[in-house]
Amino acid sequence: MTALNAVADLTVEDEVAIVTINSPPVNALSRDVREGLMLGVEKAEADATVKATVIVCAGRTFIAGADITEFGKPHAAPYLPDVLDRIENAKKPVVAALHGTALGGGFEVALTAHYRIAVPSAKCGLPEIKLGLIPGAGGTQRLPRLVGVETALEVILSGTPFSARDAKQWGVVDALAEEGKLAEGAVAFAKSLIAARAPLKKVRDRDEKLAAARGKPEIFEAIRQAHAKKFRGFEAWEKAILSVKNAVDLPFDEGVERERAMFMALLGSTQSKAQRHVFFAERAAAKIADIGPDTPTKPIARVGVIGAGTMGGGIAMNFLNAGIPVTIVETSKEALDRGVSIIQRNYENTAKKGRLTMAEVEARMGRLSLTLDFRALAEADLVIEAVYESMDLKKLIFEKLDGVAKPGAILASNTSYLNVDAIAAATKRPEDVLGMHFFSPANVMRLLEIVRGEKTSKTVLATVAALAPKIGKVGVTVGVCYGFVGNRMLAERQREAGKLILEGATPAQVDRVLTDFGLPMGPFAMSDLAGLDIGWSAETSKGESIRDILCEEGRRGQKTGAGFYDYDEQRNAKPSAHVETIIRAFAAAKGIAQRDITDAEILERLIYPMINEGAKILEEGKAQRASDIDVVWIMGYGWPVYRGGPMFYADTVGLNTVLDKLKEFQAKFGDDFRPAALLEKLAAAGGSFSKA
Ligand code: 3HC
Repeated sequence: MTALNAVADLTVEDEVAIVTINSPPVNALSRDVREGLMLGVEKAEADATVKATVIVCAGRTFIAGADITEFGKPHAAPYLPDVLDRIENAKKPVVAALHGTALGGGFEVALTAHYRIAVPSAKCGLPEIKLGLIPGAGGTQRLPRLVGVETALEVILSGTPFSARDAKQWGVVDALAEEGKLAEGAVAFAKSLIAARAPLKKVRDRDEKLAAARGKPEIFEAIRQAHAKKFRGFEAWEKAILSVKNAVDLPFDEGVERERAMFMALLGSTQSKAQRHVFFAERAAAKIADIGPDTPTKPIARVGVIGAGTMGGGIAMNFLNAGIPVTIVETSKEALDRGVSIIQRNYENTAKKGRLTMAEVEARMGRLSLTLDFRALAEADLVIEAVYESMDLKKLIFEKLDGVAKPGAILASNTSYLNVDAIAAATKRPEDVLGMHFFSPANVMRLLEIVRGEKTSKTVLATVAALAPKIGKVGVTVGVCYGFVGNRMLAERQREAGKLILEGATPAQVDRVLTDFGLPMGPFAMSDLAGLDIGWSAETSKGESIRDILCEEGRRGQKTGAGFYDYDEQRNAKPSAHVETIIRAFAAAKGIAQRDITDAEILERLIYPMINEGAKILEEGKAQRASDIDVVWIMGYGWPVYRGGPMFYADTVGLNTVLDKLKEFQAKFGDDFRPAALLEKLAAAGGSFSKA
């Protein structure tokens, strides 16, 4: 074995050269890896005893793509296109041997090899779109040559990896190796190529699969239309379609050149920077300062959920999906029946869409037990309380739970606002208590705010943090404060939205500004969806807010056919002239002058106070890092990923711009806009939240 450089070595076995890349964690295409590939192929070419070359990776995966940490920094030779040219133009066959995830630039390396072999568990894909990019090393030119434009665009626009079996069926890989025996299989395959004097097959030379799309621009137009809604606001996807179209319309080298130019332009875009930020933010969120791999965790084999409402049911589904049995406790049979039928219906709907088999629906429902007997919670390793927001009720429940739960069980509250320390104090084991705040719909939204109480033990926190990915969630650890991270910031936005409609904006204008920004819904559409009467009561209502007036009139949101908007049978919203009259009259009665408000002011009034609140959250140590706040907003509230989260967005706008605007608003509208000390400090130092 000869070392080629720090991350690559070369072995010659009979007539086969084996280039092994070993650059943990994922063999990303750093300069060293690029150099290792280049040197490996060159050495193999120069060795007269070698007749074929195998490229294989050590560790968990074949090359998982370009090294994202290198993006935005000056690049050093050898450059990827040159390495790929070297592989493709080798005079002896090169075989790429795939395991783990051959993604992005890694898959593109494999596509320049003359042959590909994979173990059945391997996956291939071009996930660049998820980073606001298009494949930049020939992926949009070579993949359609192997699988045709429609399948290629499906792979590129979804960014989702496909299995080695699909790859074999599509002709992307030439052979499957036995699981766990990739290197041996690849060497045997290479020997068979030598024996057969197999040709140097170059993907670039094939174009029979492109023929079907030649002279048919309508194919691309149909794909564009099919994806337009999903990609609203995103830049990269149309470039991906264009680049694949170039594969059909242009000579190979020109197609590659244009692909590279588009890739480089996107690499410098704010959108791609934002999406790369989110990639790392999601991974950083899992890291908790004082918790490491040595922190012990507890096994969670059975979960209890208190409350079969919308939240309780959604929470239970996460565990049932992950194979963990759940017991739901309720106080009445009706509530239990209602809850279980919602879960059942949810699963059946997924099955109808073909995303779940009926056997799997049954298996999941089979893991669910229902009871009116609180004592059944004694068996649970983790109990999650999901009743309505009342501190008195929660205290009662936790006191009772303390008497029933087995020693060492984790006791969690799904409260969205309340003080977890006060809830913990209702038990004699506050170290076992924490908040697990799920976001509605709880079986869909990926965010889990893990609320660390003052006394929560490290083991309990580590256990829940490790559990989050197992149930498909991204856990973000937050401190105890009213509304935690997400809802605390949301309250700022809601307050301003309420003020803006009194000052002259319409609910539809406010909502449109936010949906134009990229959020799925504005505050008024959201209130209508949730129901305006949540937390409202007819007995105490005194017509003191627009909400009071609407609820008193029976306009309680979508469910009543009217709220801030009017709704038709299909629940399509239409602005309501009647509501606008109510708002105008209310403003007049309060002496609030109405004026035309620009979209720009609406956006700044809604978003900048949220950023300011985020800064206070950081100052108080209620979030570990600014990027955690971004993850909360992206995973929990549908903040557009191409804007990177509110704190990253503030960085792109410039902290001084945000600060100046807040000061201007403070002078005009009062202390709701008083800038956070941290924002003042960072802005003065020319800093940013990302680097704070
Ligand atoms: N560059 C740099 N670091 C990377 C990386 C990459 N491409 N991919 C993963 N990492 C790092 C992660 O940040 C993480 O670091 P940490 O341990 O310090 O937090 C570590 O590798 C392990 O990653 P995961 O925690 O995500 O491990 P998993 O086993 O869950 O997943 C994976 C592995 C499927 C490879 C996943 O990491 C992934 O999807 N990576 C991104 C792949 C990608 O997007 N590739 C395309 C890049 S763009 C490109 O190739 C352009 C080309 O067309 C020119």
